[in-house]
Amino acid sequence: MIDLRSDTVTRPTEDMRRAMARAEVGDDVYDEDPSVHELQEEVAGRFGFEAALFTPTGSMANVLAVAALVGPGEEVLCEARAHILRAELGAHGAFTGITSRTWRDDRGQVDLEAIREMHAPDMGPFFVRTAAISVENTHNFAGGTVVPLEDLRALRALADDLDCAVHVDGARIWNAHVATGTPLSAYGAVADTMAVCFSKGLGAPVGSVVMGTAEQVERLRVLRKRMGGGMRQVGILAAGALWALDQHVERLVEDHGHAKLLAEACGTDPALTETNIVVVDVPDAPAVVEAARAQGVLVGAVGPTKLRMLTHLDVDRLDVEDAALVLSKILAG
Ligand SMILES: Cc1ncc(COP(=O)(O)O)c(C=O)c1O
Repeated sequence: MIDLRSDTVTRPTEDMRRAMARAEVGDDVYDEDPSVHELQEEVAGRFGFEAALFTPTGSMANVLAVAALVGPGEEVLCEARAHILRAELGAHGAFTGITSRTWRDDRGQVDLEAIREMHAPDMGPFFVRTAAISVENTHNFAGGTVVPLEDLRALRALADDLDCAVHVDGARIWNAHVATGTPLSAYGAVADTMAVCFSKGLGAPVGSVVMGTAEQVERLRVLRKRMGGGMRQVGILAAGALWALDQHVERLVEDHGHAKLLAEACGTDPALTETNIVVVDVPDAPAVVEAARAQGVLVGAVGPTKLRMLTHLDVDRLDVEDAALVLSKILAG
């Protein structure tokens, strides 16, 4: 099977497994795991944040980050198909009591006018206060689109003007970095908090971090434990993430090339596929999913007429060419 359903399906490479097996570990709830320390310091340093905290998932990293910025009964603004709202199963409202409102942009971009219009200052007992704006970069359900740095800087300026915070869901910020050449520190500079994942394009089996100020991260350590995310000798996982950071960032450019090839085979403009996610409109997505599966290619339906494919470390050029042939024949009817 050629599995294009997600970039989370990768299995750790032999070299990564060896690095994990060698990891120095300690009890991370006691804050004594040297590999976790190394990962947290490395990632915070790359993005220019004061501190980082290891979490099992990107979802938990996002919940913690947003909770650092938005109090119970306050709101976060985000794009309508943001992962934090659509795919984290209501975790933000359920666990931390925040509310949200959305703007809509087909390519998952920031809409400064809509944000300015929606923003609500603190009005005491009358209205919900807007405490933060969350941006997803790259945007998963919009098709791996990149939010350009100049737009993020304009958002930062607006947020400062409105006295509100900015969170970046950077589960795939590595893809945006490689696709545009934007330094990670420039992405870090526009955000109050950021969540990044190692278990997507980077190919680690587990792990994310949430970043912010040292004071925020200390508070989030408590909330992480409360949510059941206090882990023990988790340096084994941190070592996989460190290996991925060292070995698997620059190669994302290959995944981006493969995604363009798939986009073309599916009859869409490859220029619209900016990173490793291809979203294609088809008359009947579940039917295409079934037909492709029957021919050894796994793709996903993200709506009745939307097909989604992701390229990653575990599919090479030949796999992608085979999948492209299968899909182009199915779509040609
Ligand atoms: C944009 C985005 N943010 C956050 C997450 C959450 O990551 P996890 O599956 O590790 O909870 C995902 C997962 O696919 C994602 O695509």
